[in-house]
Amino acid sequence: MPERNRKTPARNGSATASAAVGAAMTAELPVRKAILERRTYEAPAEGREKKLRLDFNENTAGCSRAVVRALAKLSPQQLAMYPEYQRPTRRLAQYFGVKPEELLLTNGGDDALRVFFDAFVDPGSAILLCEPTFPMYRYYAEIAGARVEALRYGSGMEFPLESVLAALLTKPRVLFIANPNNPTGTLVQPEAIEKILNAATNTAVVIDEAYAEFSEVSVVPWIGKHPHLFVARTFCLFR
Ligand SMILES: Cc1ncc(COP(=O)(O)O)c(C=O)c1O
Repeated sequence: MPERNRKTPARNGSATASAAVGAAMTAELPVRKAILERRTYEAPAEGREKKLRLDFNENTAGCSRAVVRALAKLSPQQLAMYPEYQRPTRRLAQYFGVKPEELLLTNGGDDALRVFFDAFVDPGSAILLCEPTFPMYRYYAEIAGARVEALRYGSGMEFPLESVLAALLTKPRVLFIANPNNPTGTLVQPEAIEKILNAATNTAVVIDEAYAEFSEVSVVPWIGKHPHLFVARTFCLFR
């Protein structure tokens, strides 16, 4: 999770960069306004081993033994290679029931979100969120210099469906929904997602299914019929 733990440069309008090795640079390098103004995500990231780490929703039981066995079989040469993606992409596409060209492998769910921002979000684009939710949507939006429009879950953690449908009339560039949501643990039912997709005539809808292995609800089978639907999944939080 390197992005999440990265610190903000000094907030005084410019930052002095210094090289890691050799003489410190003396030039004042301008830092983008969007970076200086963004909120940081500063969770405690060190000294976590052997603790019950529930704050990042990591799998505290560890990964499957099959993963450990597969890693143990890798040769030093294979470990030193840049990864080859074609074969795993084909196998995962088969697992998800999609075409290989509909699937993009990234370095975790966070990287999938970052790639999405790089590809689709311009400075000034409107990004629709329902908070509280996974903070990386806002974080990447602020880095991109996008405009965040944040709706709120209800006091009983109800998803604000009517407000989302109304906000879609303003044609935001992207709507992000974590489903199930982090941190509320609530699930938006597929019928509600279908209503959203039908209303999102000018908006990309990103359904982040990081916890779909727990809810066993997924809209991956719908990507063929809704070209503006994107689904993010991760291995990181598997049972
Ligand atoms: C909703 C949600 N999406 C994405 C992620 C990030 O997944 P990864 O650890 O694979 O980057 C998390 C992790 O906490 C999450 O809660």
